[in-house]
Amino acid sequence: MNHFIKPTEDFVRKTLSHAEGGHDWWHIERVRKMAVVIGRAEGADVFVVEMGALLHDIADAKFHDGDEEIGPRKARYFLESIDVSKPHIEHIVNIIRHISFKNSFDAPGFSSLELKVLQDADRLDAMGAIGIARTFNYGGHTGSGLYDPDIPPMAQLTKSAYKKSKAPTINHFYEKLLKLKQMMHTETAKRLAEGRHQFMVSYLEQFYKEWEGEL
Ligand code: ADP
Ligand code: NI
Repeated sequence: MNHFIKPTEDFVRKTLSHAEGGHDWWHIERVRKMAVVIGRAEGADVFVVEMGALLHDIADAKFHDGDEEIGPRKARYFLESIDVSKPHIEHIVNIIRHISFKNSFDAPGFSSLELKVLQDADRLDAMGAIGIARTFNYGGHTGSGLYDPDIPPMAQLTKSAYKKSKAPTINHFYEKLLKLKQMMHTETAKRLAEGRHQFMVSYLEQFYKEWEGEL
């Protein structure tokens, strides 16, 4: 089955060659490495984990007019073209459909250890130093400001409010990044999330002190 990895890697690299910096090939590569480490530690099917990591952001709805089926559809089409087995295709496509943070607002419709491992790896990449870099990059990409003390983060977030948010980038820490620690499934990821979470908390403390000219 490992012969499927290289053609998948080539397909993903090519498809994401012009992607925004936080959702580019290097995000995929980091998530893949992390997911394989977590997957091995947790006894998951590492083939499904690696293929799922490679394909999980192949077509993100927020860059495709909100079409949430485009990613699963593209992945299925590709997996069929290289003759991956039907049960593996179903599992990988289900993972792609359910991995996203915004889909955690919906009732869970599918679950597997491999999905949990990939969600953990994807969420870890949204935390810590890299998570901060990705967040400001995305804010720059959509033209959001850094911070506005007059615009508080949304307390009760619905899926549509989350997707529509044009708030300053600092608000995203409260709307998503600081919630991720509690959302980890596996013990391996919970351990890693702790350090990344603390780093973001320290970052915010420093940010506000500098904002007020206190440091
Ligand atoms: P998901 O697909 O799981 O909903 P996203 O792709 O929206 O997750 O988020 C991935 C990363 O993109 C976030 O961790 C963050 O770095 C960045 N991002 C997404 N939405 C925003 C936003 N509104 N403001 C700033 N960064 C964002
Ligand atoms: Ni991702």
